[in-house]
Amino acid sequence: MANTITPHVLLFPMPAQGHLLPMTKLADLLSHAGLYVTFLATEGVYQRCFLRDDDDRRDQPRFRFRTVPDGLPRESSRPFVDTLDGLLGVVGHARGPYRELLASSRGGGGEGEGELWPPVTCVVADGFLPFALDVPVEMGIPVMVLRTSSPCSVWAYCCIPELIKRGEVASPDEPNLDESIQGVAGMEGFLRRRDLPGFVRKAQSADDPGLQFFATCSANLTRARALILNTFEALDSPVISRLRDVCPDVYGLGPLHLLGRNVCSTPSGGDSGKLWREDRTCMAWLDRQPDRSVVYVSFGSITVISREELLEFWHGLIGSGKRFLWVVRSDLVAETSADEKTETPLELEEGTRERGCLVGWAPQEEVLAHRSVGCFLTHSGWNSTLEGVVAGVPMVCWPFLGDQYTNSRFVSEVWRNGLDMKDAGGRDVVERMVKAAMDGEGADELRRSASKLAEEARESAEEGGSSYLDYQRLVQQIKSLSS
Ligand code: UDX
Repeated sequence: MANTITPHVLLFPMPAQGHLLPMTKLADLLSHAGLYVTFLATEGVYQRCFLRDDDDRRDQPRFRFRTVPDGLPRESSRPFVDTLDGLLGVVGHARGPYRELLASSRGGGGEGEGELWPPVTCVVADGFLPFALDVPVEMGIPVMVLRTSSPCSVWAYCCIPELIKRGEVASPDEPNLDESIQGVAGMEGFLRRRDLPGFVRKAQSADDPGLQFFATCSANLTRARALILNTFEALDSPVISRLRDVCPDVYGLGPLHLLGRNVCSTPSGGDSGKLWREDRTCMAWLDRQPDRSVVYVSFGSITVISREELLEFWHGLIGSGKRFLWVVRSDLVAETSADEKTETPLELEEGTRERGCLVGWAPQEEVLAHRSVGCFLTHSGWNSTLEGVVAGVPMVCWPFLGDQYTNSRFVSEVWRNGLDMKDAGGRDVVERMVKAAMDGEGADELRRSASKLAEEARESAEEGGSSYLDYQRLVQQIKSLSS
């Protein structure tokens, strides 16, 4: 008879907000299924996101945190990775301790709180951390990969060799962004160069480091036991099918925040896993606004804009005549000059005081679910996109980097639950797009599509739905790896 070891999963997210949140939800789901869970965080992220008295994840008998160094100065204002160089820096510091942790776990040295922890039987590695996969593969520990960005971008990255072969990327000249792209199978009808993920769209040559990094991440999918995606069949079935040809087992567990809510009864929102503390005063402000009257504006966790761009958005919002709730993170605007620092802060401007509310960080899931929110002006980060889908709120997309360029194209052309204003952030465009999404000619149509997607998302995460079933299947596969 096979010798069964207690299943113990180690999850290792990339230190960035959009990666931490879905990995945290996945960790909760696996813990809820009775598995031992080690959540491996970099030191800066652990301190800022999880080292809190009210974080109930910290005291569970089968759930523990472990940390690896990140090499960032203590109390760094941005203890996360937002560039390729930043990522390589973390790898240099974290790789050795990560290997030691896995080795000591195998040697039975994994002491937990009052109990001897079983060895790690499976690693779930962030797909943007190639070394998080390399190390356990070398040690013979099974690895699965979680890709936290959109499946459409994961597939586009898989097509990098084909794009290079066809000469569709890596142009040293000024590329024609409106050129339609044929090299990403299944997206030929609507994908333009402009809609390719950031690193692909901007690559200057075939050996561009960004392009090569994402090609490596894609090649790694063939080495993983399974690929876990934050999506659901009804939203992404064509792309999921293509990815099934790349990786033997693909699981669509999305929207993870909804599945987590259903399975583990975790409340929506809360600060656990968040790099900033929520300012909940905006909920009372929303309560005072009429139904579907507010534009919620948020550009996620990484975006940095100039003061000029900030003002263009502000004038566009004021010009639209709509009320707005805007997340202006403390690090959203790039370092300003002495002159700009003396300008009136936006929150004191008359237009803002009349019909706006500015916060540093919002309880986004709750905000999107509020009856007064009528549209979401978003950077199209994948988590925000899914949260908008779950809330059934039409979107106006202003992508800033990475998969966001592809996501916004899918919103406008495939799912048809929003408008894409990519590469155009001027005040007139902002005003026009916001008006169109709130109450323009096509607004009813957008709302209908958004409501349909929300219903499909809800069904997928309910018992018997596609994501719920994939969750159960995933737990079984992880258990089978330890027998
Ligand atoms: C990054 C990339 O930008 C994104 O494209 C990729 O898919 C994942 O990593 P990020 O900029 O962090 O993501 O955006 P997003 O994926 O949307 O994640 C932001 C998260 O922060 C969301 O879950 C959102 O709910 C949360 N958030 C944002 C808040 O809780 N409050 C806020 O005020 C703003």
